[in-house]
Amino acid sequence: MSALLLDGRLVAAELLTSLQKDVADLDPKLVVVQVGEDPASSSYIRQKIKSCDAVKMRHQHLHLPEETNLDDLMTIINDLNNDDDVTGFIVQLPLPKHLNEFVPQIIRQIDPKKDVDGFSAYNIGKMFLSTEFEHLPPATPSGVITLLEHYDIPFEGKNVTVVGHSNTVGKPLTTMFLNRNATVTTCNVYTKDLAHHTKDADILCVAVGKPNLITADMVKDGVVVVDIGITKTENGLCGDVDFEAVKEKAYAISPVPGGVGPMTVASLIRNCVRAKKRQLELS
Ligand code: GUN
Repeated sequence: MSALLLDGRLVAAELLTSLQKDVADLDPKLVVVQVGEDPASSSYIRQKIKSCDAVKMRHQHLHLPEETNLDDLMTIINDLNNDDDVTGFIVQLPLPKHLNEFVPQIIRQIDPKKDVDGFSAYNIGKMFLSTEFEHLPPATPSGVITLLEHYDIPFEGKNVTVVGHSNTVGKPLTTMFLNRNATVTTCNVYTKDLAHHTKDADILCVAVGKPNLITADMVKDGVVVVDIGITKTENGLCGDVDFEAVKEKAYAISPVPGGVGPMTVASLIRNCVRAKKRQLELS
């Protein structure tokens, strides 16, 4: 048996099309702050800008030199917070080494109303309450949920295993599944018997960044697999799942590339539209 492909390119394109009218009516603007020259960041930013162009949304790429110091970055964040023309902005991660230890402070400085990455304590914390409070959720978990919903994958009462417990993906994704009445197990590098938990999953989401971490013997027949990992190898981009083998057992599986990646970008644009709507309500 070969699995249903969870086609992130297709679903993201549909999501972007559905946002076009709101973008035209509301005219939001996204600013992407990049410090330094991390090649992966440059590639992600190109994809974000391409999707902004696809929906004709205004955008600005603020590309700062590698040696930008914390004070200068904080001043730029304050300026963006105070600029009424800017709907939302993100500080692309990772930052250069000398700024890395300040990431929590930097994220805290971003006005939650403009935090379209959904990384701030306010936006993350609100998600704990219920789906109604997932106003600006982090883009990757939000994209995973939208991808699964598009293919009518049910959540209620299902066993979901999330592998990876990062603040930007694993933890918020766990919360979003709990909000949808799934039974969720979150695994991390300290988990004693990973295969025990992955075999139990009706829906398995993996966000680790280790190619082939999940092999066919670690999943049950009929599982739905969402591969959120992305690693650059000499053979191109690789997810965390042995796609060729696991697709023979799965009911549905997302590829890398072309799965969660495009959904993340489309979710970011959706957050810009949501942020603009809320700002207009408040003004
Ligand atoms: N680096 C990799 N993914 C992301 C993302 O979604 N947002 C930000 N700000 N940085 C990232």
